[in-house]
Amino acid sequence: MRVLTGIQPSGDLHIGNYFGSIRQMVEAQNENETFAFIANYHAQTSLKDGKKLAELTMQAAIDFLALGIDPNKSVFWVQSDVKEVLELYWVLSSFTPMGLLERAHSYKDKVAKGIAANHSLFSYPVLMAADILLFSPDVIPVGKDQIQHVEIARDIALRFNNEYGDILKLPTYRVDENVATVPGIDGQKMSKSYGNTINIFGEEKKQLKTIKKIVTENVPLEAPKEWKSCNVYNIAKLFLDEAGQKELQERYARGGEGHGHFKLYLHDVIWEYFKPYREKREYFASHPDEVREILALGAHKAREAALPLIETVRSKSGISY
Ligand code: ADP
Ligand code: TRP
Repeated sequence: MRVLTGIQPSGDLHIGNYFGSIRQMVEAQNENETFAFIANYHAQTSLKDGKKLAELTMQAAIDFLALGIDPNKSVFWVQSDVKEVLELYWVLSSFTPMGLLERAHSYKDKVAKGIAANHSLFSYPVLMAADILLFSPDVIPVGKDQIQHVEIARDIALRFNNEYGDILKLPTYRVDENVATVPGIDGQKMSKSYGNTINIFGEEKKQLKTIKKIVTENVPLEAPKEWKSCNVYNIAKLFLDEAGQKELQERYARGGEGHGHFKLYLHDVIWEYFKPYREKREYFASHPDEVREILALGAHKAREAALPLIETVRSKSGISY
């Protein structure tokens, strides 16, 4: 099965991103043909600082390689390194009714938030359709907010196929309902936009400071404590096996330790968990040429995979003459 996913290069990754998305991607590599790319063209819809975007693109590449995207198992590239996507985007635009884009929630939400309604924001789903359809994947794993974009891609593919025959493969989306929402330090969903994140690759002192800010109930040190509803416990459990979870539950129930102790414990657990990834990250960060080589090879593989389809599209739509 071919699985494809695009990731926006949006800065520091947090443990919500890790448990909600990255870990699944890394695990999927073992059973599927995985295609993963850094969606830098998509990021241009909201980020105009070119230097920053270039930096974030490299940072995303380094982060994902460190966290387990394996270029021997996955095709891993930067979106803009396979220009054919822009060509398909244009061809598909003529099969995209305005109404289809006008109904897109993500566009409407962004405009409602006061983001200027420019053309790239509006046509974002067409570029996403091109990202997908260029590689004929079977499945697109998505968060709920992206379901509609995959539906739009299917709709556009159908219209194209109606004209030229059965050329574009209709993908399906998959939403992993088992992935719990990781709470942030305030108990709301962890999200960059809420400023409540624990980052994967932060400095140790900063991480400890953040963890100390986790909101907990106010109970005397000697009293037993509630673990089920405790933000510290609910983050810690993601890193613990069953025995580890039991042990921590018992420490809560026993009393004699305060939330400060549990926070220190959580810090140690997280710091230890990401240690090997940190080391890999340091390696890639100090070998940018190697990272660029990996990305170039990935782009080459992605392009090879896309060429037969784009040639058919050119021929059917009359661009090859
Ligand atoms: P943010 O909300 O910090 O901007 P993104 O929207 O960039 O995060 O999310 C990137 C990926 O990480 C998505 O697949 C999303 O579903 C996942 N993700 C983000 N936050 C969480 C969370 N708190 N719990 C589970 N998954 C999350
Ligand atoms: N729009 C997606 C997001 O914001 C990123 C993305 C771009 C994508 N192209 C894609 C995801 C193709 C899956 C398939 O998260």
